[in-house]
Amino acid sequence: MQKVLPDHRRPNGIGPGSYDEASYALGYSKHELRRLALQAAFIRDLTEDFLRRAGLARGMQVLDLGCGVGDVSLIAGQIVGPSGAVLGVDRSREAIEIAEKRAVEGGQCHWVRFDVAKLEDFNPDRKFDAIIGRLIMMYLPDPGATLRRLADRLRPGGIVAFQEMAMPSVRSVPDGLEFRRCRRWILETFERGGFEVDMGPKLHTTFLEAGLPAPQMIAAGRVEGGPQSFVYDYVAETLRSLLPFMERLGIASAEEVQLDTLADRLRAEATENSACIMPPPLVGAWTRLDVPLNEER
Ligand SMILES: C[S@@+](CC[C@H](N)C(=O)[O-])C[C@H]1O[C@@H](n2cnc3c(N)ncnc32)[C@H](O)[C@@H]1O
Repeated sequence: MQKVLPDHRRPNGIGPGSYDEASYALGYSKHELRRLALQAAFIRDLTEDFLRRAGLARGMQVLDLGCGVGDVSLIAGQIVGPSGAVLGVDRSREAIEIAEKRAVEGGQCHWVRFDVAKLEDFNPDRKFDAIIGRLIMMYLPDPGATLRRLADRLRPGGIVAFQEMAMPSVRSVPDGLEFRRCRRWILETFERGGFEVDMGPKLHTTFLEAGLPAPQMIAAGRVEGGPQSFVYDYVAETLRSLLPFMERLGIASAEEVQLDTLADRLRAEATENSACIMPPPLVGAWTRLDVPLNEER
């Protein structure tokens, strides 16, 4: 059944909003699954630092929501080690198959496992020491409610830790025409798709809505520039994944975007202007649940 979104999150131009796989803006192409891994390499250290600050430690049992091709689960797997365990959950079977292969290749398959499940229907029958996730809350119709339901699976003293983007904070200094167009296309596609582009700063209220203690928060981001940077490919590859959805929404056409030359155009513009590119910062929020949610506090 399609979920009707609250007005402020309803897609504009593709009929009533839903959060099913068909309307997931980035899609599940082979290209997108590879892009996820490239993106993850770009921000890996920012997530590892965040998870350590949040208190992830050796021996913990961890649940990773919306794990995609497994990057956050594998980072968590390294932190908790073989005396701990990680379960990554995602609704995409293709993504989970890749995540499983990566856990085998990385020698973590004995303690990092994966499951195909929609978070809406996911009811794990065991308890965890930490529930974590990256770039997942922005896709959920009611992230506070999902968090409240799943936080019930935490042991006393358990950690909740999520990292999400503050997309509108992306910038180039000085600004450039190509960069500005890409920024607008990406933001508009996510916004009109009904996804939360400023989820990072909204994690604070999301935690409170879930009945969790107010989180500690931190923002981290890459700062890029120069001809060698990966950032131009990152922007172009994000647009490659978004293009079918973007065209359906009438935001831009393949002719306007010219994907095959886009990374080079962005690189040339930034290099000519000696620009500093700041991709969207990742905002992390974490808290500890000392008293179970269903008990009076
Ligand atoms: C942008 S990716 C992030 C993947 C991973 N967390 C990372 O940071 O590399 C978002 C993932 O959330 C998954 N997802 C979105 N909504 C979901 C839902 N309702 N249930 C399960 N997975 C969902 C998508 O399938 C996708 O793999």
